[in-house]
Amino acid sequence: MSTFDAYLATFDAEPGYLNWAAFGPLSPSVREEVFADADLLGSGRPSSLALVGERVGQARDLAAELLGADSADVTVQPSSTHGLSQALYGLTGAVIAGTGEFPSVSLTLERAAQASHGELVPRWITPDDGRVTPDAVAEALDDDVTAVAVSHVDFRTGFRIDLAALREAIGPDRLLVLDAVQSFGVIDVDYAAADVVAGHGYKWLRAGRGSGFAWFSPRARERIRPVLSGITGTTASGLFVDELPAPAPSAQAFTVSGPDTLAAGRLAIGLRDVRDAGVAAIEERLATRVDAVIEIADRHGIAVSSPRDRAQRAGIVALAPEEPARLAAALANAGVVVTARGSSVRVAPHAGTDDATLQLLDDALAAFGNETFISA
Ligand SMILES: Cc1ncc(COP(=O)(O)O)c(C=O)c1O
Repeated sequence: MSTFDAYLATFDAEPGYLNWAAFGPLSPSVREEVFADADLLGSGRPSSLALVGERVGQARDLAAELLGADSADVTVQPSSTHGLSQALYGLTGAVIAGTGEFPSVSLTLERAAQASHGELVPRWITPDDGRVTPDAVAEALDDDVTAVAVSHVDFRTGFRIDLAALREAIGPDRLLVLDAVQSFGVIDVDYAAADVVAGHGYKWLRAGRGSGFAWFSPRARERIRPVLSGITGTTASGLFVDELPAPAPSAQAFTVSGPDTLAAGRLAIGLRDVRDAGVAAIEERLATRVDAVIEIADRHGIAVSSPRDRAQRAGIVALAPEEPARLAAALANAGVVVTARGSSVRVAPHAGTDDATLQLLDDALAAFGNETFISA
């Protein structure tokens, strides 16, 4: 069995799970290793505690490898929102963001602006179709704009922004703060176009909550003030008392306190599994699963509002059915797990989504269509 096939074989959630954009059921390796790490922490032996402590460095090294970055510039965070907060609270000037972003971007930017006494001003954009494209960003640019905060893949529309085109649009001097929650580990891209990349392990990496991380490029570190810097991000190497050291001249300045080593372990294992399987292979396989979901929706006459072009999507298919609540209920009754919100039903397969799961979706949509026929 190839490494990639072995990776696919680890997807052991119950058939019908199509909600990876909300939560990724934990992989077998993450489950096993977290039990082992917990046992080590239960022993009280200093060497065992130190061993689990090494998980933090492993997570940073592996995230750096996948980002094509230096591990010294990677921080582990309680969540991606914590990572985004570290970046956004330290900015000044006008910062472009979409009003339709996940609130980890929009609300955090607003709160950071409120705390900045006028030094940071959000420049909100609301594109008609909800897609924050490089053109939509370019239209909002002027000399006051210092940065752009955007999701690589939008959680609602499923739209994936072209990072190289976005960098081209904003020029070399403005900062690009990227929420990579819906792409990291499943989309093979050059993150060097961004200055800050925040993500987490609890969806596509199958590593559970508490497993956030954020990368701060050297340029970002020069330009973003570490205003939320805490006791782990100082120039002091150990515990300090009777002194108040300055923020560290490294990405660790963007951390607050000691990380959860169990969470770091889960993140490290999730990252390792993705690294070993290969992000490009995962992306390719996921694309075929997304194609299959779109084909099923098309065949049953359900409108798809997310992008069809592979280059503009990742793992999210947004359905726009005529009766969203009724479709959501039908899918839930059939054991198909998705996210239904307002007029949209979000279907999110992963690379390891099996044919049985797609068949369940197909059957549920077929039954849904027939129901409409009978009751009409
Ligand atoms: C695009 C996006 N950003 C951020 C988050 C929240 O991440 P966290 O819980 O790590 O703060 C989500 C969660 O669904 C998301 O979809």
